[in-house]
Amino acid sequence: MADKVPSISLNSGYDMPMLGLGTYNSFKPNEIGDAVRAAIQMGYRLIDTAWSFETETEIGAAVKELIQEGKIKREELFIVTKLWVHCREPDQVEPACRQSLEALGMDYIDLYLIQFPIAFEDVGVTTPTMTDYLDTWRAMEKLVDKGLVRSIGVSNFNKQQLERILKMDGLKYKPANNQVEMSPCLAEEDLLQFSLKNDISITGYASFGAPGQNYIPEDAPKILEDSTIVKIGRKYNTSSAQVILRWGKQRGFAVVPKSTNPSRQAQNMDIFDFKLSEEDMKAMLALDRGYRCNAQLLSAWKDHPYYPF
Ligand SMILES: NC(=O)c1ccc[n+]([C@@H]2O[C@H](COP(=O)([O-])OP(=O)(O)OC[C@H]3O[C@@H](n4cnc5c(N)ncnc54)[C@H](OP(=O)(O)O)[C@@H]3O)[C@@H](O)[C@H]2O)c1
Repeated sequence: MADKVPSISLNSGYDMPMLGLGTYNSFKPNEIGDAVRAAIQMGYRLIDTAWSFETETEIGAAVKELIQEGKIKREELFIVTKLWVHCREPDQVEPACRQSLEALGMDYIDLYLIQFPIAFEDVGVTTPTMTDYLDTWRAMEKLVDKGLVRSIGVSNFNKQQLERILKMDGLKYKPANNQVEMSPCLAEEDLLQFSLKNDISITGYASFGAPGQNYIPEDAPKILEDSTIVKIGRKYNTSSAQVILRWGKQRGFAVVPKSTNPSRQAQNMDIFDFKLSEEDMKAMLALDRGYRCNAQLLSAWKDHPYYPF
């Protein structure tokens, strides 16, 4: 199954699998370690984490076990993690990266992302600062030069913020990736086309609208139950989840659905043997209503110059 996941060529020269395992919001002991073990053994190669997800240590331990058991090699995996909002001053970036490396028990990260454009004094996102993400970016570039990370990118950045990085004085490395919320309710076509044109890959998160995740408002749309998507799924004999992930693949971005359930993990990976018609692709795009489920965290900071949404 591993060979079935196609890759995206990043502008850094590395290849990134188009499908990986999300690991947010798994706080029960061993839950994410077990999920990662199951996923890697069925062929997942990209694991998406973040310092803020508090899953790096369990992921690292699971990967170490699999390597020791001879089931996988480090170089076959693509590990993504992220710099949280409280470590944005240039001199804080390398220590934060080293902390993630230590938690993961690894000597390099495949892709390291600035998780949000706004910096905060605190872990709890209550006191924003004016730290410029361009200064953070310069510190990220140094991590590549030191061999601590292979590719660098951003997350939750908008088009103008990407443009600002691309135009910055002395830019050494373009962002290889922007990880953003992407679902049938939030198609982000403009951002996607801009990114593809500028050779910045996109990873879409919350593909299903993050059902059951703690950051979702109660009245959020139930994307997996959407009648158009259910109907398209019947046509191809697939689930709504598979239709949504396949739609992402055909639009040209990577996806990181989170599941701790091995049968749903397998289902989410099984999207490379069918193709949505042009008509169905358009019907999916027509569901876009600009609905963002991950807006609450930053909603108090709408007037901040680096507010992205
Ligand atoms: N960059 C960022 O700021 C950021 C923010 C949020 C998330 N992320 C990343 O993106 C990943 C995905 O986003 P997300 O976890 O919030 O939301 P998601 O992938 O849209 O949804 C995850 C939820 O869907 C369920 N699910 C998974 N596969 C399913 C299927 N085939 N059928 C029915 N239900 C299914 C999961 O339950 P089970 O586990 O029970 O299967 C889980 O409750 C995260 O885990 C994280 O790695 C990044």
